[in-house]
Amino acid sequence: MRATKALLTCWLVLVLLSSLGVAQLRTAAARHNLFVGTAVNNDAFNNTSGEPLYRPTLAREYNMVVAENIMKFDALEPAQNQFNFAPADALVAFAQANGMVVRGHNLIWHNQIPNWLQNGNFNRTQLIAIMQNHITTVMRHFAGKVIAWDVVNEAISDNNGNPNPLRTSLWFNGIGADYITMAFQFARQADPTAKLYYNDYNIEGSGGKPDAAFQLVSGLKAQGLIDGIGWQMHQINPFTISSANQSNATRLQNLGLELSMTELDIRMQLPDDSTKQQQQASSYSSVVNFCLAQPACVAIVTWGFTDKFSWIPGTFSGFGDALPFDMNYQPKPAYTAFLNALGGSAPPAAPTNLVASPGNAQVQLTWTASSGATSYNVKRATVSGGPFTLAGTSTTTSFTDTGLTNGTTFFYVVSAVNANGESANSAQVSATPSAGTANFTLSAAPNTLTVNQGASGTSTISIARTNFTGAVTLSATGLPSGVTASFNTSPTTANSSVLTLSASATATTGAATVTITGTGGGLTNTTTIALTVGMGGTNNGGVTITPVVASSSNFFNEEDVRVANTQNVTAMSVTIVIQRTTGISSSGQYNTIGNGVTQGISSTSATITDTFNFTGTLTPGSGRIFAAQTSGTGTAHPTAGDTWSVTYTTGGQSFTQTGHF
Ligand code: G3I
Repeated sequence: MRATKALLTCWLVLVLLSSLGVAQLRTAAARHNLFVGTAVNNDAFNNTSGEPLYRPTLAREYNMVVAENIMKFDALEPAQNQFNFAPADALVAFAQANGMVVRGHNLIWHNQIPNWLQNGNFNRTQLIAIMQNHITTVMRHFAGKVIAWDVVNEAISDNNGNPNPLRTSLWFNGIGADYITMAFQFARQADPTAKLYYNDYNIEGSGGKPDAAFQLVSGLKAQGLIDGIGWQMHQINPFTISSANQSNATRLQNLGLELSMTELDIRMQLPDDSTKQQQQASSYSSVVNFCLAQPACVAIVTWGFTDKFSWIPGTFSGFGDALPFDMNYQPKPAYTAFLNALGGSAPPAAPTNLVASPGNAQVQLTWTASSGATSYNVKRATVSGGPFTLAGTSTTTSFTDTGLTNGTTFFYVVSAVNANGESANSAQVSATPSAGTANFTLSAAPNTLTVNQGASGTSTISIARTNFTGAVTLSATGLPSGVTASFNTSPTTANSSVLTLSASATATTGAATVTITGTGGGLTNTTTIALTVGMGGTNNGGVTITPVVASSSNFFNEEDVRVANTQNVTAMSVTIVIQRTTGISSSGQYNTIGNGVTQGISSTSATITDTFNFTGTLTPGSGRIFAAQTSGTGTAHPTAGDTWSVTYTTGGQSFTQTGHF
């Protein structure tokens, strides 16, 4: 039986090598002249954007497909003698394009019978004609394209022969037990080249149902009407092939039938865990090893391949994860066990730490080696997420992609390859090549700014770009308490952003250096603003001036300016102007601060002016005295006409207070 497949297998291997690159299960299976297949979920198959890994995984791993639903009676003949082949034709075309063969599932079954047929009250003659027409039309349509058909599916009762070995169904009830033989006769006539199968579940071991199946196929084989038997193999984890399976396979084989595992899945009770996954891996190994040991076993078909699309959770509550690939299309231990049992080995793991660095019309890529990899495929796309095309291969852990368009962003993934196949893709990275090194600088205008309490001020932050078009995120640090910063746009791809610094009514006054930081494209740059927070406009900066006439007699006069301050004063000038009445002249001046004060006296015929200039820091305190002294010859001085003026700086803001004595 294997020999009959030899030519077909050679063709398969050629198609594989030429069109698919490195394949996995199917490559290993082909060495055994074995078909490895899966049921195809039509929704996932057609959702190429939503399920971008469905078709590539299918084509990479399998050399046989079977339609999970779209080649059943209700799908192909939804109205009497009106056939809908389009969806199945699309699957067949995909299979042919990818060097895969197709199993036909199924022609006659008690399930998924269209309403027109189920409710048609057809008599025996009519039912036979309907059956013949369906089988003939379908098989002729797919002749040469479907290598094997499940002609009759699940015809044997689960009741161990009670009341009879066959399941009651539309076909059994309407035609009688010989509907099965008729179906196989019609099938043989319709396409003599197709392998004809009887397919069922729970017929794999020993007992009433396997025995009934054996009797059934024995009779059909004696008439030359059947070529194979399909063991569905819907199993529960953990599963191990038993001696009963072996005895049954041997007796079927001795009939001259070929054997296919047609709907293999090994469901586990959820939640999944690593122990169950290992058990499941052993279970899959057991089935694969068994099949390889049977000369008659020609195919292992799983009922789906990714746990994302499986009939199990919808039918067996609390069970799932029955297939070799997980919900994300990643191979599970079951997959590795499957592959290892076929004598294949797993491909390397995907590369990690992929980094892309842009250059002039090129992008340099580096990554961390994958153990066992002999080369790497570097794949590029101009859209995030792909589709990716091969940009080149490398036997090292770097690659320079040249000849690129500056200013265009390119997306990359890398996969690792060895003799066993190709890994999944690495995480994606991107880079935008440009003529020079990408950078930007920041500047602030103005870069000194005074903002009073309760007010705000602005500065324009300019972003000077060199080969850099990316977004820059701006932030401000070093803000005094009570001062907030906002940018009119951040992140920004523009060349400037306006910074607003707002001081609350109680913001801390004084000088501060505000640092503006821009980040983008992996770059960080800064500029600074010298900020002064001034006192609010309605107060005196916490400085109280008290004019005091300390002495006023016929012979001596002293007028003081006394200062009290509640916060640091950084500059102060005091001016006292004395009227120069007849006989009056200056007799001195003093202050109680001392260090940092420069004193001076100037006189005209009308005034005597005492000045005091302080520089330094006058910490909070009171009773600081600036005194102007005069003396004369006998007339009391009219002090009310004398004036004072004090100008000082506190909290970065200048104030002036004036008055008279
Ligand atoms: O197509 C209709 C859709 O139009 C409707 O909206 C939807 C609502 O439920 O139903 C859709 O049909 C479903 C069909 O799958 C296609 O998705 C049916 O309800 C659903 O019952 C049917 O289930 C299939 C089942 O056979 C039917 O018995 C499973 O997908 C399929 O995996 C399963 O496969 C069978 C094999 O053919 C024979 N051996 C057992 C195996 C598992 O039950």
